[in-house]
Amino acid sequence: MGLTVRPLRPNFAGEAEGLVLRETHDRADLDAIVAALDRYAVLVFHDQPFEDGEHTAFARRLDGELVTKVARTVLESRRRLHDEGITDISNLDEDGRPLDRADRRRMHGLGNRLWHTDSSFQQPAARYSMLSAKTVPAAGGETEYADMRAAYDALPDALKARLDGLRAFHSIMYSRQTIGFTDFSDAERAQFPGAEHPLVRVHPGSGRTGLYLASHAERIVGWPVPDGRILLRELIVLATQPAFVYRHTWRGGDFVIWDNRCTMHRGLAFDENEPRDLRRATTLDLAPALTPA
Ligand code: OGA
Ligand code: MN
Repeated sequence: MGLTVRPLRPNFAGEAEGLVLRETHDRADLDAIVAALDRYAVLVFHDQPFEDGEHTAFARRLDGELVTKVARTVLESRRRLHDEGITDISNLDEDGRPLDRADRRRMHGLGNRLWHTDSSFQQPAARYSMLSAKTVPAAGGETEYADMRAAYDALPDALKARLDGLRAFHSIMYSRQTIGFTDFSDAERAQFPGAEHPLVRVHPGSGRTGLYLASHAERIVGWPVPDGRILLRELIVLATQPAFVYRHTWRGGDFVIWDNRCTMHRGLAFDENEPRDLRRATTLDLAPALTPA
């Protein structure tokens, strides 16, 4: 049986079935996933158990090279997981216990509750993120996704014209600083110098224009900082209105793939006494295929 997709929102977020992903090697099946991502930007699969090695192997089959720099950053010096292609999105320490409230890894991870797109503070940034749910809390811990293409389409023409040609500088130091986390070492600062990207992009797979926004977006290149920040905040508010958002309630075994080039996402609060073990593999947006609008 091949891939079938049931839309969860009109042309955004689809519930997919028909493939056992860890056993999917056929190029036609992988291409069907990419085509569905071009259309829906977020795909939700259920009952897809993965070992970490199978997870990274699937991610490489689907789209090539993985983001490893963030996964093995000094921020995770006491790592729970040891595959360099896996980013630990859990609330657990290296012994599998919920992190202390004041743990630096928890503080840093709280930044995932801000609307963002993965690795926009790097060059190349992330293309696909693939998040596998091992253990989820009984309540809460959802992830929300926002459609940056629909958000762009809905902007007034005058605002679209103002955005034309603009570039934003993204930095993880900045997004963490906005929640009061500034505890970075010199080595970490040197490792994450930030990156510049167009604010508006045409997606090569769908041809649709979208906003490229994130909590990491610190300023508009060439603009006074306050002007840029006001614009970025205004756009993030507009782009994350309920009409553009799909909220995913996790079940164990869920596997969600999203296209970071045309979405934002954020985690929601949950009971942190309970384990929430999610693991992510992320591909690099290597092809210079995204062109400014
Ligand atoms: C991520 C992320 C949010 C969440 O995996 O990149 O931001 O709900 N996750 O855990
Ligand atoms: Mn993320």
